[in-house]
Amino acid sequence: MGVSNSSYKLVVSSESPLQVDWIVPSKSKLTILKEESVETTKAIGKGKFGHVFMCKHVATSKYLAIKYIPKTIIHECQSASRIQQEMEVLLLLKHPFVVSYYCTYETNQCFCICLHYAAGGELYSLMKKSYKFSEQMAKFYFCEIALALSYLHNDLNIVYRDLKPENILLDCHGHVKLCDFGFAAPLDNEKSTLIDGCGTAMYVAPEIAGGFMKKNHGFPVDWWGLGCVLYEMIAGKAPFGDTDKMSKFEIFNNINAKNPSIPLFTNKQLKLLINGLLAKDPNARMNWKHVQSHPWLADVNWNDFMNLRIIPPWKPLNNKAPNTDCFLSWNELKLPTETVSHEVAGYCNSISIPKAKAESTKGKNADSFIEDEKEYFDKTSKNKPSPMQPASSSRRKSISGSGAGSPSQVVPDNAAPNMGRRASMSKQASMKGGM
Ligand code: ADE
Repeated sequence: MGVSNSSYKLVVSSESPLQVDWIVPSKSKLTILKEESVETTKAIGKGKFGHVFMCKHVATSKYLAIKYIPKTIIHECQSASRIQQEMEVLLLLKHPFVVSYYCTYETNQCFCICLHYAAGGELYSLMKKSYKFSEQMAKFYFCEIALALSYLHNDLNIVYRDLKPENILLDCHGHVKLCDFGFAAPLDNEKSTLIDGCGTAMYVAPEIAGGFMKKNHGFPVDWWGLGCVLYEMIAGKAPFGDTDKMSKFEIFNNINAKNPSIPLFTNKQLKLLINGLLAKDPNARMNWKHVQSHPWLADVNWNDFMNLRIIPPWKPLNNKAPNTDCFLSWNELKLPTETVSHEVAGYCNSISIPKAKAESTKGKNADSFIEDEKEYFDKTSKNKPSPMQPASSSRRKSISGSGAGSPSQVVPDNAAPNMGRRASMSKQASMKGGM
């Protein structure tokens, strides 16, 4: 698959990042998106809340990913407020390592969320193919994910809460695109925390798994998640066990009480970073402040990363025509066509597709997203590259303990913990990520 694992080095590109003309739809055409505007070409993701298809925008022949969420499922799971919250979060996002949101439209059967098509598939698939990443390769993905988290936390005050290799997509160039904001939740301020337990069992932090005095949780859960992903890239397995082979109970026990063994020949600084991110106590856990200046990342120029100047270890499409080769195929998936009942339609009427916010806020509408993405590429391609840097199977289910329909609850820092995991709405074991 053309992954130069052991020989990969973080190198600054001497060329401008190429704009791929089939992937960014034109501004004026997308704003009027409706059912007839797109052709669903292939299913690329399957989940309890709906399916993701690679779609072609008929008028322009550009491709995008559309997440179709059937209204019957929203009704069944009483998840209107969750979908609403996801759309509201999506509307705020604008970052090179976070999937861009274009717009949402509604059909009789589904809510359809239009997103940038991340053609490289999931980091999960790349990890399965490569087994272990070299330290430099792991460093590349680590840095791009860390920048995405820092953006969510520091610019938007949003906790992501479901970091795992399945939700880390790669674009056609091989850069990270964080997707699936179904569990993301805004905090009122940096001191407030959330009380609903959610995430994916293998990757949840001790404060969600019931350990560490069942604390409320906040930003540190995402740095824990990043510690798990970093460990998995280096060790070739998840740090606290796999739901494939172990019960959730055993995994939670490990999360709360055990330290994963780090492969013997791992760089000492990298070991310290993994241990710092996997600190059980959220207050002692490393975060962006520590990551930014960590000795293992001494050769990292964060500015070059932000400007997409670091050459990715793997180029998924290698200038090929648009395709879905990086995804498992879900040929059997069909979109619902039956008219929904009055009850379902009535329930879903409470969901309003968020409109773009005024310019003065951080909110963006489809127009400005698409323009911004183009501008971003134009701008970065005009940037002069800086001098070369020295060389320096199964799916995991997400859990939600707040009751199916509840959006996240934000509580002040000193509120009493309430971690009861009631009958949770879990993602299907067979799902492909990003849902
Ligand atoms: N799965 C979920 N979101 C996706 C996206 N934007 N591109 C490709 N696959 C996805």
